[in-house]
Amino acid sequence: MMDHIVDVEIEHYLAQLGRTRDGVLAEMEDRGEAAKFPIIGPLVGRLCMQTAMAVGARDVFEMGSGFGYSTWWFANAVGDGGRVVHTDLDAKLSAEARAWMDKAGLAPRVHYEVGDACEVIKKYPGPFDVVFIDVDKHAYPMALELARSRVRNGGYIICDNALWSGNVIAPASKQDADTRGVVRYNKEAFAAPDLLTTIVPVRDGVALSLKVPPDRRRR
Ligand code: DHB
Ligand code: MG
Repeated sequence: MMDHIVDVEIEHYLAQLGRTRDGVLAEMEDRGEAAKFPIIGPLVGRLCMQTAMAVGARDVFEMGSGFGYSTWWFANAVGDGGRVVHTDLDAKLSAEARAWMDKAGLAPRVHYEVGDACEVIKKYPGPFDVVFIDVDKHAYPMALELARSRVRNGGYIICDNALWSGNVIAPASKQDADTRGVVRYNKEAFAAPDLLTTIVPVRDGVALSLKVPPDRRRR
């Protein structure tokens, strides 16, 4: 629907402020661009890393990791001895992520699972400090339910594509299954008494949900 949520020149300005010098990350960005693989990009990557660091995250579960671009940011956030669980349906993407993480010197921090993240996470009771959601959009409501039961109080659920190219504001009659998934995700993330959610409208929108401790929940 919309090519850009944020004005292109403003997005460019934001991007150059945080321009990373990391060689492996830059190579991963080039790989994403060359194949038009939808990575979260450096602005959202930084937001993910900052949020994870702010809550002292040591254990992160990624639902939908692709070739490991988001994994790079979370693996840097968790530090030595920390863990990021990388999940993807595609064994080739999982193997590729492993190669990138090896190259980046992050291998000891990352654990790999091939399969549907909504199934894989059932093997992990948690609690996790951060759960990142970037699976197929029609599965977002299911992913939210699973993440919600596994993120600790004071932790975060971070969800990519919360504005889905602006399709979230299309009339209901024009919404496909993916758009309906994102719309329902946002409604539920805002309505849940145990979550405090804000959508940051950078790139394609990022929903940040703080898991609120019981004594601070709205009644
Ligand atoms: C697209 C973008 C994403 O970030 C994603 O997770 C899936 C698809 C897209 O632009 O099609
Ligand atoms: Mg995405």
